[in-house]
Amino acid sequence: MSSAAAKGDAGAGANDVYSMVRGLQRQLHLQRSALDAVHAQARESELKLRQATAALMTAQEVERKRIASELHDSVGSALNALTFAVGGALVLTGKGDSEGTANLLQRAAQQVKGILDDVRRIAMDLRPAILDDLGIVGTLSWFFREFLAVYPHVALRTQIEVKEADVAEPLRTPIFRVTQEALNNIVKYANATEVLVRLARGQTGIVLEIKDNGSGFVTRGNGGKPHPGSTGLGLSSMRDRVEFSGGEFHLSSAPGQGTQIVASWPLS
Ligand SMILES: Nc1ncnc2c1ncn2[C@@H]1O[C@H](COP(=O)(O)OP(=O)(O)OP(=O)(O)O)[C@@H](O)[C@H]1O
Ligand SMILES: [Mg+2]
Repeated sequence: MSSAAAKGDAGAGANDVYSMVRGLQRQLHLQRSALDAVHAQARESELKLRQATAALMTAQEVERKRIASELHDSVGSALNALTFAVGGALVLTGKGDSEGTANLLQRAAQQVKGILDDVRRIAMDLRPAILDDLGIVGTLSWFFREFLAVYPHVALRTQIEVKEADVAEPLRTPIFRVTQEALNNIVKYANATEVLVRLARGQTGIVLEIKDNGSGFVTRGNGGKPHPGSTGLGLSSMRDRVEFSGGEFHLSSAPGQGTQIVASWPLS
Protein backbone atom coordinates (compact mmCIF):
# COMPACT_ATOMS: atom_id res chain seq x y z
CA MET A 1 0.00 0.00 0.00
CA SER A 2 1.35 3.51 -0.94
CA SER A 3 1.90 5.96 1.87
CA ALA A 4 -0.74 8.30 0.31
CA ALA A 5 -3.27 5.49 0.32
CA ALA A 6 -2.37 4.65 3.91
CA LYS A 7 -2.85 8.30 4.87
CA GLY A 8 -6.22 8.35 3.06
CA ASP A 9 -7.31 5.22 4.96
CA ALA A 10 -6.21 6.76 8.25
CA GLY A 11 -8.13 9.98 7.39
CA ALA A 12 -11.26 7.99 6.54
CA GLY A 13 -10.85 6.00 9.81
CA ALA A 14 -10.53 9.23 11.79
CA ASN A 15 -13.65 10.58 10.06
CA ASP A 16 -15.56 7.42 10.98
CA VAL A 17 -14.48 7.69 14.59
CA TYR A 18 -15.31 11.41 14.57
CA SER A 19 -18.83 10.85 13.21
CA MET A 20 -19.32 7.95 15.64
CA VAL A 21 -18.37 10.23 18.54
CA ARG A 22 -20.71 12.93 17.18
CA GLY A 23 -23.49 10.34 16.98
CA LEU A 24 -22.84 9.21 20.53
CA GLN A 25 -22.77 12.83 21.69
CA ARG A 26 -26.12 13.45 19.99
CA GLN A 27 -27.59 10.35 21.63
CA LEU A 28 -26.20 11.41 24.98
CA HIS A 29 -27.71 14.86 24.50
CA LEU A 30 -31.10 13.36 23.60
CA GLN A 31 -30.99 11.02 26.57
CA ARG A 32 -30.03 13.89 28.86
CA SER A 33 -32.98 15.94 27.60
CA ALA A 34 -35.30 12.98 28.11
CA LEU A 35 -33.91 12.52 31.63
CA ASP A 36 -34.41 16.25 32.33
CA ALA A 37 -38.01 15.95 31.16
CA VAL A 38 -38.55 12.92 33.46
CA HIS A 39 -37.04 14.87 36.38
CA ALA A 40 -39.28 17.84 35.65
CA GLN A 41 -42.32 15.54 35.51
CA ALA A 42 -41.30 13.88 38.80
CA ARG A 43 -40.95 17.33 40.43
CA GLU A 44 -44.37 18.34 39.13
CA SER A 45 -45.98 15.08 40.37
CA GLU A 46 -44.34 15.55 43.76
CA LEU A 47 -45.72 19.09 43.96
CA LYS A 48 -49.20 17.87 43.02
CA LEU A 49 -48.96 15.10 45.62
CA ARG A 50 -47.98 17.62 48.27
CA GLN A 51 -50.86 19.89 47.30
CA ALA A 52 -53.31 16.96 47.37
CA THR A 53 -51.99 15.86 50.78
CA ALA A 54 -52.39 19.40 52.11
CA ALA A 55 -55.96 19.57 50.77
CA LEU A 56 -56.74 16.18 52.33
CA MET A 57 -55.35 17.29 55.68
CA THR A 58 -57.46 20.45 55.55
CA ALA A 59 -60.55 18.40 54.75
CA GLN A 60 -59.74 16.02 57.63
CA GLU A 61 -59.22 18.97 59.94
CA VAL A 62 -62.62 20.42 58.99
CA GLU A 63 -64.25 17.02 59.49
CA ARG A 64 -62.56 16.63 62.89
CA LYS A 65 -63.78 20.06 63.99
CA ARG A 66 -67.31 19.15 62.94
CA ILE A 67 -67.20 15.88 64.88
CA ALA A 68 -65.62 17.59 67.90
CA SER A 69 -68.37 20.19 68.04
CA GLU A 70 -71.04 17.56 67.52
CA LEU A 71 -69.58 15.50 70.37
CA HIS A 72 -69.42 18.59 72.53
CA ASP A 73 -72.91 19.84 71.73
CA SER A 74 -74.89 16.61 71.75
CA VAL A 75 -72.99 14.00 73.78
CA GLY A 76 -71.27 16.53 76.06
CA SER A 77 -74.42 18.34 77.07
CA ALA A 78 -76.37 15.11 77.45
CA LEU A 79 -73.64 13.75 79.76
CA ASN A 80 -73.88 16.95 81.80
CA ALA A 81 -77.60 16.47 82.20
CA LEU A 82 -76.99 12.83 83.14
CA THR A 83 -74.44 13.80 85.79
CA PHE A 84 -76.99 16.23 87.20
CA ALA A 85 -79.76 13.60 87.30
CA VAL A 86 -77.52 10.97 88.93
CA GLY A 87 -76.22 13.53 91.45
CA GLY A 88 -79.83 14.49 92.30
CA ALA A 89 -80.76 10.82 92.71
CA LEU A 90 -77.87 10.34 95.16
CA VAL A 91 -79.03 13.31 97.25
CA LEU A 92 -82.62 12.01 97.30
CA THR A 93 -81.47 8.51 98.29
CA GLY A 94 -79.57 10.08 101.20
CA LYS A 95 -82.84 11.68 102.28
CA GLY A 96 -84.70 8.37 101.97
CA ASP A 97 -86.89 9.70 99.13
CA SER A 98 -87.19 6.52 97.11
CA GLU A 99 -89.91 7.80 94.79
CA GLY A 100 -87.91 10.92 93.86
CA THR A 101 -84.82 8.75 93.37
CA ALA A 102 -86.69 6.39 91.08
CA ASN A 103 -88.00 9.31 89.00
CA LEU A 104 -84.56 10.77 88.55
CA LEU A 105 -83.03 7.39 87.68
CA GLN A 106 -85.76 6.83 85.12
CA ARG A 107 -84.88 10.16 83.54
CA ALA A 108 -81.20 9.20 83.66
CA ALA A 109 -81.96 5.93 81.84
CA GLN A 110 -83.71 7.87 79.06
CA GLN A 111 -80.74 10.21 78.83
CA VAL A 112 -78.37 7.25 78.49
CA LYS A 113 -80.49 5.94 75.63
CA GLY A 114 -80.34 9.38 73.96
CA ILE A 115 -76.57 9.43 74.33
CA LEU A 116 -76.29 5.96 72.80
CA ASP A 117 -78.39 7.12 69.84
CA ASP A 118 -76.17 10.19 69.41
CA VAL A 119 -72.98 8.16 69.56
CA ARG A 120 -74.39 5.68 67.06
CA ARG A 121 -75.40 8.49 64.72
CA ILE A 122 -71.98 10.16 64.96
CA ALA A 123 -70.25 6.82 64.37
CA MET A 124 -72.39 6.25 61.29
CA ASP A 125 -71.48 9.71 60.02
CA LEU A 126 -67.86 8.60 60.03
CA ARG A 127 -68.80 6.14 57.34
CA PRO A 128 -66.37 7.30 54.65
CA ALA A 129 -63.47 6.20 56.84
CA ILE A 130 -65.13 2.84 57.41
CA LEU A 131 -65.81 2.41 53.71
CA ASP A 132 -62.19 3.22 52.93
CA ASP A 133 -60.94 0.78 55.53
CA LEU A 134 -63.34 -2.14 55.08
CA GLY A 135 -64.73 -1.66 51.58
CA ILE A 136 -68.44 -2.04 50.87
CA VAL A 137 -68.61 -5.76 51.69
CA GLY A 138 -66.91 -5.34 55.09
CA THR A 139 -68.85 -2.15 55.89
CA LEU A 140 -72.19 -3.82 55.16
CA SER A 141 -71.33 -6.81 57.38
CA TRP A 142 -70.31 -4.43 60.16
CA PHE A 143 -73.54 -2.46 59.71
CA PHE A 144 -75.72 -5.60 59.77
CA ARG A 145 -74.03 -6.75 62.99
CA GLU A 146 -74.70 -3.34 64.58
CA PHE A 147 -78.29 -3.37 63.34
CA LEU A 148 -78.97 -6.83 64.78
CA ALA A 149 -77.41 -5.87 68.09
CA VAL A 150 -79.90 -3.00 68.39
CA TYR A 151 -82.92 -4.67 66.74
CA PRO A 152 -82.60 -8.38 67.54
CA HIS A 153 -86.34 -8.96 66.97
CA VAL A 154 -86.05 -8.25 63.23
CA ALA A 155 -85.26 -11.35 61.17
CA LEU A 156 -82.69 -9.76 58.88
CA ARG A 157 -81.63 -11.95 55.96
CA THR A 158 -78.61 -10.70 54.05
CA GLN A 159 -77.32 -11.96 50.72
CA ILE A 160 -74.12 -10.23 49.72
CA GLU A 161 -73.30 -11.89 46.43
CA VAL A 162 -70.58 -9.57 45.18
CA LYS A 163 -66.85 -9.41 45.55
CA GLU A 164 -65.34 -6.10 46.54
CA ALA A 165 -63.86 -5.64 43.05
CA ASP A 166 -67.31 -6.04 41.42
CA VAL A 167 -68.51 -2.79 42.99
CA ALA A 168 -67.04 0.33 41.38
CA GLU A 169 -65.68 2.80 43.94
CA PRO A 170 -68.29 5.56 43.24
CA LEU A 171 -71.14 3.13 43.96
CA ARG A 172 -69.96 2.18 47.43
CA THR A 173 -71.24 5.27 49.26
CA PRO A 174 -74.70 5.26 47.59
CA ILE A 175 -75.07 1.52 48.27
CA PHE A 176 -74.23 2.00 51.94
CA ARG A 177 -76.40 5.11 52.38
CA VAL A 178 -79.43 3.56 50.68
CA THR A 179 -79.13 0.41 52.83
CA GLN A 180 -78.73 2.51 55.97
CA GLU A 181 -81.74 4.76 55.26
CA ALA A 182 -83.96 1.90 54.07
CA LEU A 183 -83.26 -0.07 57.28
CA ASN A 184 -83.81 3.10 59.35
CA ASN A 185 -87.20 3.55 57.73
CA ILE A 186 -88.06 -0.10 58.30
CA VAL A 187 -87.43 0.11 62.04
CA LYS A 188 -89.16 3.50 62.27
CA TYR A 189 -92.33 2.72 60.31
CA ALA A 190 -92.69 -0.78 58.92
CA ASN A 191 -93.14 -2.89 62.04
CA ALA A 192 -91.73 -5.71 59.91
CA THR A 193 -90.75 -9.15 61.13
CA GLU A 194 -88.72 -10.08 58.06
CA VAL A 195 -86.25 -8.01 56.11
CA LEU A 196 -84.10 -8.99 53.18
CA VAL A 197 -81.05 -7.08 51.94
CA ARG A 198 -79.49 -8.43 48.78
CA LEU A 199 -76.53 -7.04 46.88
CA ALA A 200 -75.70 -8.97 43.74
CA ARG A 201 -73.92 -8.74 40.45
CA GLY A 202 -76.39 -9.64 37.72
CA GLN A 203 -75.76 -9.94 33.99
CA THR A 204 -76.61 -6.29 33.45
CA GLY A 205 -75.14 -4.73 36.54
CA ILE A 206 -75.08 -4.34 40.29
CA VAL A 207 -78.43 -4.69 42.04
CA LEU A 208 -79.31 -3.69 45.58
CA GLU A 209 -82.66 -4.88 46.89
CA ILE A 210 -84.17 -4.14 50.29
CA LYS A 211 -87.51 -5.73 51.08
CA ASP A 212 -89.66 -5.86 54.20
CA ASN A 213 -92.93 -7.57 55.07
CA GLY A 214 -94.16 -4.64 57.15
CA SER A 215 -97.05 -2.20 57.00
CA GLY A 216 -96.18 -0.64 53.63
CA PHE A 217 -97.50 2.80 52.68
CA VAL A 218 -99.33 4.69 49.99
CA THR A 219 -97.01 5.96 47.29
CA ARG A 220 -97.77 8.60 44.72
CA GLY A 221 -97.12 6.34 41.75
CA ASN A 222 -94.31 6.92 39.23
CA GLY A 223 -91.70 4.78 40.87
CA GLY A 224 -93.00 5.21 44.37
CA LYS A 225 -92.64 8.75 45.60
CA PRO A 226 -93.60 9.09 49.27
CA HIS A 227 -97.12 10.18 50.02
CA PRO A 228 -97.89 13.91 49.62
CA GLY A 229 -98.02 14.60 53.36
CA SER A 230 -94.46 13.37 53.95
CA THR A 231 -91.88 15.95 54.84
CA GLY A 232 -89.12 13.35 55.07
CA LEU A 233 -86.01 13.54 52.96
CA GLY A 234 -84.89 9.92 53.22
CA LEU A 235 -86.65 8.45 50.19
CA SER A 236 -85.87 11.35 47.87
CA SER A 237 -82.23 11.43 48.92
CA MET A 238 -81.99 7.67 48.29
CA ARG A 239 -83.34 8.24 44.80
CA ASP A 240 -80.96 11.18 44.21
CA ARG A 241 -77.93 9.23 45.36
CA VAL A 242 -78.75 6.34 43.07
CA GLU A 243 -79.54 8.47 40.04
CA PHE A 244 -76.54 10.80 40.50
CA SER A 245 -74.30 7.76 40.51
CA GLY A 246 -75.77 6.54 37.21
CA GLY A 247 -78.30 4.04 38.54
CA GLU A 248 -82.05 3.55 38.60
CA PHE A 249 -84.21 3.60 41.72
CA HIS A 250 -87.54 1.82 42.10
CA LEU A 251 -89.75 1.74 45.13
CA SER A 252 -92.91 -0.28 45.45
CA SER A 253 -95.13 -0.29 48.46
CA ALA A 254 -98.79 -0.53 49.41
CA PRO A 255 -100.57 -0.64 52.75
CA GLY A 256 -100.33 -4.13 54.18
CA GLN A 257 -98.04 -5.29 51.35
CA GLY A 258 -94.59 -4.40 52.70
CA THR A 259 -92.06 -2.29 50.85
CA GLN A 260 -89.46 -3.12 48.25
CA ILE A 261 -86.61 -0.89 47.12
CA VAL A 262 -84.50 -1.84 44.12
CA ALA A 263 -81.49 0.19 43.06
CA SER A 264 -79.51 -0.94 40.05
CA TRP A 265 -76.43 0.31 38.24
CA PRO A 266 -75.17 -0.80 34.84
CA LEU A 267 -71.87 -2.68 34.86
CA SER A 268 -69.92 -0.07 32.87
N1 LIG B 1 -90.24 0.57 54.89
C1 LIG B 1 -91.27 1.40 55.15
N2 LIG B 1 -92.42 0.91 55.67
C2 LIG B 1 -93.47 1.72 55.94
N3 LIG B 1 -93.47 3.03 55.69
C3 LIG B 1 -92.37 3.59 55.16
C4 LIG B 1 -91.21 2.82 54.87
N4 LIG B 1 -90.28 3.62 54.32
C5 LIG B 1 -90.82 4.85 54.29
N5 LIG B 1 -92.09 4.85 54.79
C6 LIG B 1 -93.02 5.98 54.84
O1 LIG B 1 -92.57 6.97 53.93
C7 LIG B 1 -92.40 8.21 54.58
C8 LIG B 1 -91.22 8.95 54.00
O2 LIG B 1 -89.98 8.33 54.34
P1 LIG B 1 -88.67 9.22 54.33
O3 LIG B 1 -87.52 8.32 54.63
O4 LIG B 1 -88.61 9.98 53.06
O5 LIG B 1 -88.89 10.27 55.47
P2 LIG B 1 -88.79 10.13 57.06
O6 LIG B 1 -88.17 8.82 57.44
O7 LIG B 1 -90.14 10.42 57.60
O8 LIG B 1 -87.83 11.32 57.45
P3 LIG B 1 -86.24 11.36 57.26
O9 LIG B 1 -85.82 10.16 56.44
O10 LIG B 1 -85.96 12.65 56.54
O11 LIG B 1 -85.68 11.31 58.65
C9 LIG B 1 -92.26 7.87 56.04
O12 LIG B 1 -92.72 8.93 56.84
C10 LIG B 1 -93.14 6.63 56.18
O13 LIG B 1 -94.47 7.03 56.35
MG1 LIG C 1 -86.42 8.15 56.52
